[in-house]
Amino acid sequence: MKDKIEKLKEEILDNLVKAKEEGALRDLEIKYLGRKGELTKILRSLKDLSGNEKKEIGQLANEIKKEIEDKFAEMKKAFSGKEKKEQTDVTLPGEKIGRGHLNPVTIVQNELEDLFISMGFMVLDGPELESDFYNFTAVNIPPNHPARDMQDTFYIDKKNKDGEYDLVMRTHTSSVQVRAMQKYGAPLRCVVPGKCFRCEATDVRHEHTFYQIEGLMIDKNISLANMKAVLETVAKKLYGEETKLRMRPKFYPFVEPGANGEVTCFLCQGEGCLLCKNSGWLEIFGSGLVHPNVLRNGGIDPKIYSGFAFGFGLNRVTQLKYGIDDVRLFNSGDMRFLQQF
Ligand code: DAH
Repeated sequence: MKDKIEKLKEEILDNLVKAKEEGALRDLEIKYLGRKGELTKILRSLKDLSGNEKKEIGQLANEIKKEIEDKFAEMKKAFSGKEKKEQTDVTLPGEKIGRGHLNPVTIVQNELEDLFISMGFMVLDGPELESDFYNFTAVNIPPNHPARDMQDTFYIDKKNKDGEYDLVMRTHTSSVQVRAMQKYGAPLRCVVPGKCFRCEATDVRHEHTFYQIEGLMIDKNISLANMKAVLETVAKKLYGEETKLRMRPKFYPFVEPGANGEVTCFLCQGEGCLLCKNSGWLEIFGSGLVHPNVLRNGGIDPKIYSGFAFGFGLNRVTQLKYGIDDVRLFNSGDMRFLQQF
């Protein structure tokens, strides 16, 4: 019996080596391991053997069965192609490496920077972690002034040597106004694009981290007319030559008079639609003539110089330009969104 099993094992292994394709393998499997297979038959007949023999031969037979099953499994895997070695065709073109690209906010920021540079403005930077002074006090929002409540501020949990909290994440790029005046004096023409932060409950219109572009022009005899000319140029650049601009009085502590700026809705051309909430107009910036206190804080004499300032919400401008309905997409890192630009 033992010999018979050993012989059968040799036979099966011999035949397995000869099998050249999956079909042949399957036939062998049926022949030996199938319900009526030769090995199966032998295993079944073991039950007729006497005690000791049964134990000894049974063990051997089971080992052999296992060995053969493993061999079958191994060959099946090889035939199924999973383990076939890939051949390299060196003449094929290489795989292209995807190139990164700019966030849509950066695209619009670059466009605006170019436009302002062409009108003689410098592009400046400023710190995102800012002092309470430059973010608020310097732009005419003194401590405890109710205007501080207009912006939900992230205060930094660190007291200065006088025991005051004097660091904030800047809430607007207006924080750079007085810095620029102190550094460059008058006359001055600059824009400041950059990141701002507010403690917002985020939704489709609100984001805790967003972008603005601030503008400042100071010289002798600067009036609202100069401001309107510059801002109209920007509006047309952004939304097309047909675009009209309107400015309506609005309070901002750092300007007097202050105005918000609206452009005709580019979607309905001012007729009224969902985007402009049927008003025909879209609000895109705040602006005004620089408050004398701010000029003074920057070391500029308001009796000699005047100026205008404005601040665009870059996310909003970009949303309107590309029809993006959720401001949170910009910082989401979602490639399905980003790859569209
Ligand atoms: N800093 C304002 C804000 O974040 C925007 C703004 C309004 C900037 C009027 C200006 C301005 O320079 O003149 O809401």
